[in-house]
Amino acid sequence: MCRVNSTSIAFLSVLLFCFSSFEVTYSAREGKQWRKQSIAGGFRRLMAKGGSSDVVADATTTFNVLDYGAKGDGRTDDSKAFEAAWADACKVEASTVMVPSGSIFLVGPVSFSGPNCQPNIVFQLDGKIIAPTNSKAWGSGLLQWIEFTKLKGITIKGKGTIDGQGSVWWNDSPTAQRQDSTTNHTISGELDGKMSSTKPTALRFYGSNGVTVSGITIQNSPQTHLKFDDCTGVQVSNFVASSPGDSPNTDGIHLQNSQDVVISAATLACGDDCVSIQTGCSNVYIHDVKCGPGHGISIGGLGKDKTKACVSNITVRDVNLQNTLTGVRIKTWQGGSGSVKQVTFSDIQLSEVETPIMIDQFYCDKSHCSNQSSAVEVSEINYVNIRGTYTVQPVHFACSDSLPCSGVSLSTIELQSVKENHPLSGPFCWETYGELKTSTEPPISCLESGKPFNAGAQSSSDSC
Ligand SMILES: *[C@@H]1O[C@H](CO)[C@@H](O)[C@H](O)[C@H]1NC(C)=O
Ligand SMILES: *[C@@H]1O[C@H](CO)[C@@H](O)[C@H](O)[C@H]1NC(C)=O
Ligand SMILES: *[C@@H]1O[C@H](CO)[C@@H](O)[C@H](O)[C@H]1NC(C)=O
Repeated sequence: MCRVNSTSIAFLSVLLFCFSSFEVTYSAREGKQWRKQSIAGGFRRLMAKGGSSDVVADATTTFNVLDYGAKGDGRTDDSKAFEAAWADACKVEASTVMVPSGSIFLVGPVSFSGPNCQPNIVFQLDGKIIAPTNSKAWGSGLLQWIEFTKLKGITIKGKGTIDGQGSVWWNDSPTAQRQDSTTNHTISGELDGKMSSTKPTALRFYGSNGVTVSGITIQNSPQTHLKFDDCTGVQVSNFVASSPGDSPNTDGIHLQNSQDVVISAATLACGDDCVSIQTGCSNVYIHDVKCGPGHGISIGGLGKDKTKACVSNITVRDVNLQNTLTGVRIKTWQGGSGSVKQVTFSDIQLSEVETPIMIDQFYCDKSHCSNQSSAVEVSEINYVNIRGTYTVQPVHFACSDSLPCSGVSLSTIELQSVKENHPLSGPFCWETYGELKTSTEPPISCLESGKPFNAGAQSSSDSC
């Protein structure tokens, strides 16, 4: 990929000489473990950076986990080396933690945390990081495996992979555990005990501002692959999440209490929602995303256990869904309060999706949830140019009797049953008000025009 002529090699060699000297000086000053760099090694590293302009800067601001004793053999626990590299990078503005390609790093639960770190740290991930699969490493259970918290400007980029080795958790169902206790066989060969019932998210960002995730793959997470909680200014691009369609609760990307988020060029295959947008999210733009297998792009479930939820200004555009449970969905629990508003789903292409368009204000993940009058208000929801095939029902709008959905608009909807000339169930609407801006295929005659009689019935304390 890199074309280099002999003149530039000579030039680079000179630079590399400086580069190496800088590193010696730096390492001696820091008194850190220092692994002798060959010119060739330095050259590789320099070429990997794809340029020479920042060579001198690199020498003092790049912290390679191999220089901190990481083995990268896929068996030795390299957590300490990662923590040590981070501790040094944390002190330097715009530094880089380097996880080089060609190695597999076994890393246990780890937190890379501010708030006392310098801003704009880059985590350059070109190698592979794998999670431990023995229950001891997880203790009584953790909510996440790799965590970045309270940082200003944090980037993870590269062509590397984070592998949660989640199958040991997915298979660890209550049934499997019961069978297991009667023998001394472990669920998988590597397992030496039951995995905790708390399954960790693979990669979580918390309380950070200016977060970029680019290029990397996260696969086989025990639970959610990539999660942002309490973050602002989030950019995800060229990102891949990959786990089997039957792996439980493995959301692709999960957003919570986060604002100003752009997700683009993502390929998400998982066992739950490809993207899940939870309470506290606004100004979210998702485009050029592939989803499947998975449960689709979902806002919610919101308002569980009578909580207040606020979600607004969400745009989902140019999304391709294949073999998913739903396409674009809003789900809220009865009994909640707050609102979901200003949502646009446009240019959505679907193939063999069970239910392409869904609003469910009766969301319930058990067999029965009792009816309650309060609800998370759903309004100003736009569906534009949504096409493809479905296997169960094209449109399902189930809204609250006490707080109907309003301002639901549909334009250019073309949904075909996979069974040609044999329609499955038709569109369903309950207490759903809005407007058909074009004729639709199939016709959606159940939408009520105008505004619901009791629009705005929510008390002001319930509004967002
Ligand atoms: C338990 O494990 C031991 C050692 O691996 C083996 O010899 C023994 O047969 C096992 N017992 C049962 C009930 O599987
Ligand atoms: C809505 O979100 C977009 C980003 O997706 C942003 O550019 C726009 O300013 C937001 N609109 C409002 C009214 O906040
Ligand atoms: C709850 O409300 C729904 C929709 O109005 C209705 O169909 C259902 O029968 C109700 N269930 C109970 C237990 O009241």
